[in-house]
Amino acid sequence: MSQSNAVRREIDAAPVPHAQSFELRPLPGPVGAEIIGLDLSRDLTAADFARVHQAHLDHHLLVFRDQRITPQQHIDFSRRFGRLMIHVLHQFHLANHPEILIVSNIVEDGKPIGLGDAGKYWHSDISYKELPSLGSLLHAQELPAEGGDTLFANMHLAYDTLPAALRNAIEGKRAVHSYLAQYGQLQKEGNWRPNLSAQQIAQVQEVVHPVVRTHPENGRRALFVSEGFTTRIVDVPEDESRALLAELFAHSVRAENIYRHRWQPHDLVFWDNRSLIHLAGGTPDHLRRKLYRTTIEGDTPF
Ligand code: SIN
Repeated sequence: MSQSNAVRREIDAAPVPHAQSFELRPLPGPVGAEIIGLDLSRDLTAADFARVHQAHLDHHLLVFRDQRITPQQHIDFSRRFGRLMIHVLHQFHLANHPEILIVSNIVEDGKPIGLGDAGKYWHSDISYKELPSLGSLLHAQELPAEGGDTLFANMHLAYDTLPAALRNAIEGKRAVHSYLAQYGQLQKEGNWRPNLSAQQIAQVQEVVHPVVRTHPENGRRALFVSEGFTTRIVDVPEDESRALLAELFAHSVRAENIYRHRWQPHDLVFWDNRSLIHLAGGTPDHLRRKLYRTTIEGDTPF
């Protein structure tokens, strides 16, 4: 058989994705929509993918209900949006799937199986890199009977509602983001965080980003600072920087900016890190919680 015939046969044999009928239900409040009836274990047609992509841009957060997907299917779907980032805490990668970070409070044989205090401070994932994240996908594996919610704040709304004086004070300003901003504090508060090796520290050198960024796809401006990773505003005195950041942090997480996600079994939540910051609401110590996270790389904030 000629090589071109062999290639043609392989193409003919590849399964053709079929259109799926699914519903998009906006959530009440400042962020989010549910997607009902879409099966992400199947390949999406170009039209279905385009609808999901547009919904993500419109709502900033999508809740795909009832996704019985494998880690590889989670990775494959995430990759359709961009390159995946590998988290610096390799201790908590899923075995054979370094693209997945385990977020969990479960301890087995005296060792945490995942990052138990992920998201304890408001943050945008991996904003401490030159290329911060476009978005993250968190898939529920094991949920507690109470607690374990995740909160999301809309940073476009936060920017749009800034008092004029505060908006003027940050015009054109840039801020430092550091993975180590709260690391020492988190080590003091719990037993989840390993000491970082020199190699890990080298991977998380601090970076500078604009305090207000423009979303590269929807064109809207958003505040891009968080208590989790932003340490100071550059070119302003230290006390002024501290006061400005405190005001920006408080303004970002006012109740009207927030959506609280109450997890249901097999939820996959996909949020936009360019539009939102998020916080893990906390789980009672005696209850088990485990989720798998992929993180998509974005572009240089401007
Ligand atoms: C995270 O910040 O990625 C985890 C959030 C959560 O566990 O709810």
